[in-house]
Amino acid sequence: MKTLTIQGGQTLSGTVRIGGAKNSAVALIPAAILASDPVTICNVPEITDIEALSNILKHLNVSVKRASESIVIDPSKMENKMITQELSSKLRASYYFMGALLGKYKKVTMYFPGGCKIGERPINLHLKGFEALGATVTIEDNVYTITADKLQGASIYLDTPSVGATINIMLAATLADGTTTIDNAAKEPEIANIATLLNQMGAKVSGAGTSMIKIVGVKELNGCFHEVIPDRIEAGTYLIFGALCGDHLKVDNIIPSHLEALTSKLEEMNIPLEIGIDYIYISKSPSQRSTNIKTLGYPGFPTDLQQPFTTLLTQSSGHSKVEETIWENRFMNVPYLNQMGANIKVNGMKATVDGKTPLHGEKVEATDLRAGASLVAAALIADGQTTITNVEHILRGYEEIVEKLTNVGAKIEINEID
Ligand code: EPU
Repeated sequence: MKTLTIQGGQTLSGTVRIGGAKNSAVALIPAAILASDPVTICNVPEITDIEALSNILKHLNVSVKRASESIVIDPSKMENKMITQELSSKLRASYYFMGALLGKYKKVTMYFPGGCKIGERPINLHLKGFEALGATVTIEDNVYTITADKLQGASIYLDTPSVGATINIMLAATLADGTTTIDNAAKEPEIANIATLLNQMGAKVSGAGTSMIKIVGVKELNGCFHEVIPDRIEAGTYLIFGALCGDHLKVDNIIPSHLEALTSKLEEMNIPLEIGIDYIYISKSPSQRSTNIKTLGYPGFPTDLQQPFTTLLTQSSGHSKVEETIWENRFMNVPYLNQMGANIKVNGMKATVDGKTPLHGEKVEATDLRAGASLVAAALIADGQTTITNVEHILRGYEEIVEKLTNVGAKIEINEID
């Protein structure tokens, strides 16, 4: 197991360069297998979720070559094999092989995906979408077999705007006969990024980024070159670190409009920001105010920033409220924050934070990816040393976190323990 040791109380300044978006890259890589020849994707983050997807590709006899930030995926010798539990349980996004393999071969067999235990995480809407396209789904001992004689375009309404279901249906529908529409689609920037890749491959997808997406099926998809958008959640996490202990910290290589839900809250809290074209400078506020947040799909406040933001709220004077509406288990960081000195009370999917409370170093556990980021945030301002265990969760989504934080002045080490 890996641990992080952080000596709190340092000031962060200098520049952090943000990498490609995890939640985009993890869908772009499975999407690439829909092509008949090689697809090159650049700005791919160095995170363990990408390694896990590459292992699935290799299992399917797809050639994967990684050079620095680029990855070249050549599916020309691909074989449609069952995806084993060991491979699929490493991450949530393995479910994108359902849409991609179904679209390409009209058949997929795989185990239920893995991922952070932040809620029940059903995939009923993905399956409902595949069935609407003409597929049959059978589930036996956690093995999903999805087959179709042919896929026929359909009008699909999502009960809730699910990111995963929207992308999976797009993947399955690109090679279907006729036209598919997805109504009440999720609007996250990552979805538009996937649609751009598919269109560069020759697909006909329009409306991505709005709640109505139209996919006109095509016969074949070809290779292309594509770039992953900057990771708005990694960027938001470093902005929160900067708000806690930054002095003119530059968060660089970002799309600031993707972060408006966060930056408008930071401004409301009196945190000094300077927003540029592709960067934001941020410093700790001399008088940070309290605020309330409620997580929502894009362009609302992202659930993936709720946990690190809760750490920031512990440093506001007064009473703040947090409401989580997406994942029922996204307060697992709270007992650890309270152990470090915070005053947070959880009631169901709501929490109250009373501040400002000084934090002190403790031994804590990263129960999931963003809970881990929330504890790193707390450790950066804590008095003394914090040790975070189960750091594998953090490494799934934050590339080179130790190097990036060290470069801007943090005292942080990663260690392997038995
Ligand atoms: N939902 C259903 N049925 C479904 C699918 C989703 O009821 O078939 C519900 C979920 O239970 C949840 C809501 O719909 O309450 C939204 O879930 P969504 O499908 O949008 O989430 P996801 O696609 O599984 C992605 C990200 C998550 C991020 C959410 C919301 C990936 C690989 N994961 O998950 O990222 O929290 O969208 O923005 O893209 C993270 O990066 O830490 C992370 C968990």
